[in-house]
Amino acid sequence: MKASYGLLFLLLVISCSEVPKNKQSYIEVRIDSVMSLMTLEEKIGQLNLPSAGAFTTGAVESSEIAKKIEQGKVGGLFNIKSVANIKEMQKIAIEKSRLKIPLIFGMDVIHGYESVFPIPLGLSCSWDMKLIERSARVAAIEASADGINWTFSPMVDISRDPRWGRVSEGSGEDPYLGSEIARAMVKGFQGDDLSANNTIMSCVKHYALYGASEAGRDYNTVDMSRHRMYNEYLPPYKAAVDAGVGSIMASFNEIDGIPATANKWLLTDVLRSEWGFKGFVVSDYTGVSEMINHGFGDLQTVTAKAVGAGLDMDMVSEGLLTTLGKSIKEGKITEKQINDACRRILKGKFQLGLFDDPYKYCDENRAKSEVFNAANRAEARSTAAQSFVLLKNKGNVLPLRKSGTIALVGPLADAKENMTGTWSVAARFSESISLREGLQKALGNNAKIVFAKGSNLAEDSLLEKNSTLFGKSLHRDKRSAAELRDEAVRMAKNADVIVAAVGEAAEMSGEAASRTNIEIPETQRDLIKALLKTGKPLVLVLFTGRPLALKWEEENVPAILNVWFGGSEAGDAIADVLLGDVNPSGKLTTTFPQNLGQVPMYYAHKNTGRPLNGPWFQKFQSNYLDVSNEPLYPFGFGLSYTEFGYADLKLSSNEITSADSIRVSIDVTNKGIRDGSEVVQLYVRDLVGSVTRPVKELKGFQKISLKAGETTRVNFTLGMKDLSFYNSDLKFVAEPGEFHVFVGGNSRDVKQGAFTLK
Ligand code: BGC
Repeated sequence: MKASYGLLFLLLVISCSEVPKNKQSYIEVRIDSVMSLMTLEEKIGQLNLPSAGAFTTGAVESSEIAKKIEQGKVGGLFNIKSVANIKEMQKIAIEKSRLKIPLIFGMDVIHGYESVFPIPLGLSCSWDMKLIERSARVAAIEASADGINWTFSPMVDISRDPRWGRVSEGSGEDPYLGSEIARAMVKGFQGDDLSANNTIMSCVKHYALYGASEAGRDYNTVDMSRHRMYNEYLPPYKAAVDAGVGSIMASFNEIDGIPATANKWLLTDVLRSEWGFKGFVVSDYTGVSEMINHGFGDLQTVTAKAVGAGLDMDMVSEGLLTTLGKSIKEGKITEKQINDACRRILKGKFQLGLFDDPYKYCDENRAKSEVFNAANRAEARSTAAQSFVLLKNKGNVLPLRKSGTIALVGPLADAKENMTGTWSVAARFSESISLREGLQKALGNNAKIVFAKGSNLAEDSLLEKNSTLFGKSLHRDKRSAAELRDEAVRMAKNADVIVAAVGEAAEMSGEAASRTNIEIPETQRDLIKALLKTGKPLVLVLFTGRPLALKWEEENVPAILNVWFGGSEAGDAIADVLLGDVNPSGKLTTTFPQNLGQVPMYYAHKNTGRPLNGPWFQKFQSNYLDVSNEPLYPFGFGLSYTEFGYADLKLSSNEITSADSIRVSIDVTNKGIRDGSEVVQLYVRDLVGSVTRPVKELKGFQKISLKAGETTRVNFTLGMKDLSFYNSDLKFVAEPGEFHVFVGGNSRDVKQGAFTLK
């Protein structure tokens, strides 16, 4: 079988009269060679990405996959797991299809493969680009060892609406941080050499603006000014393109009334002409056929529009496969458009080295030794601990003593299947570490743990069912809420401290998991109320995939550790932090509002003509009657078991020209008795602009580690790029005038300086 493939490859190479030295042009020559052998049908076949995997997010529309592969009607497959399964499919393409063009195998490797890392929103709270890159690297090593060579990640959609369940999959609200993370992830997946057998092609998604869907309802309409797009929502996609991402996924939503999947301005003018993207564009799951529902035409029409706009590959709809031939005959699209799309997909396959060895990712030995091994799990564990955000710690309830009796309660306390969070397609749920296991292991015989579930996820069993799909059951307890609660309270009365693991189930966020109530379900809050009445110190370990409205918890519970969904090793990592073996250092990358009515809420807002500068409430100023303008926890916020002080902010000059840059420096001191890490954040405000500017914008950050009592001077450099923005002509410019500079440990509590750009 390999021999016949080798023969074809030889023919292809021989048919190239001259082999150029440059790798890219060599690939181009080889593509020409393959394309010269292809029929139009075979070219269209390369554009088809049917669903064949076990994990689907919509209707599966393809049947007889094997036959289609044989007929050259399939370019790739996705969400199929294991070397054996992938090899079986690849063999059909290589041994039975006429041209033996290898398939590409994609998967949603979103936050780890089998060794699952924290959900992306959690991961972003580490603010540690090396760590984030490394998590993608480990994911790529594991996935590629198990047959996968393409991942639908990173998801870089900026979102400022916690109702939208997919905030869990992104890096929060900020375009600067989001862009840094986009770069780190692409680098982690693709490495320096895409043709190595342990790197995989990245697919940045969902292009574009998917995170701004109206009312936070998934798949909903987006409508936004160009100015806002360019300054606030597009930068992370562009950063991924600049980092060399191999592919990009069009989003489900419409923009300016045109679905992104067929939006020429988006897919060609911006992506290719402005940004110079050279890879291929794939639709999202049935994104092509869904345009029928958008009211954009029948399948043939929407497909022709999509290809005309610059879409290259069709995930699941099979609109391209079934209608493009007809559209060419009818002059609705040109053969050149098909050729361009086919070339781009073949190029991806060449870059991955699939034409040289279609089985290069199918090594059973690698799968056995490189997936879910002790080293990778250890990295997942230490990474998870960096993602947790300590929101409150009154009276230093945390860290816990490693003695006495701990009452562990709550529906998430012993919930293995829920530790990995949403989009963990490859995870081994039954081998994840629950909090109960993690604590037990860490404490051994030094302390006693008593456990009671205390409550179900929610009283509404349907809500619980819909929030625990895909094998992530919370094993609903049939007893009444009062019975469950009483048992927990009885037990807690004899304990020294209560650890309550509450919040959302894994699938309460993620795709098609929007919520109109972002509080902890009432039955869980009732449990906390009852537990607080025991008078015992209580630590809330909060599981969530989105910012929650925690006003009541903030006012009533002494300690809150937000652990998101930490991944396969979550239980161990949470124990590490609860017991003080790791000092928490995560900082929020998304604002936590006081209540849902404040949403959308984000730190980089505009000032309005009537800002609230004094105390709340003021008539005829921009504020609410019933709640202040403050968030509950601001962007960038997170506590530590130690405390950091900021002093002596200095700017290298108070006047610069456009040829200069400016240095900003500050002393940061660890004022406590424990070593710790701090994310030092730099914000800028451009006071007057030809287009109004936000009150603060993140323009730099550094994560530093300080010994107890240690002081260090932290330096930043602000260049013209950091002072620039897209003006009303969408030109990226720095405008002369006054700038404020802020440095601190979150976006609210900052030291301030100023300078003028001449
Ligand atoms: C999601 C994508 C995902 C795709 C493939 C879609 O429903 O929106 O994020 O990559 O399914 O699984």
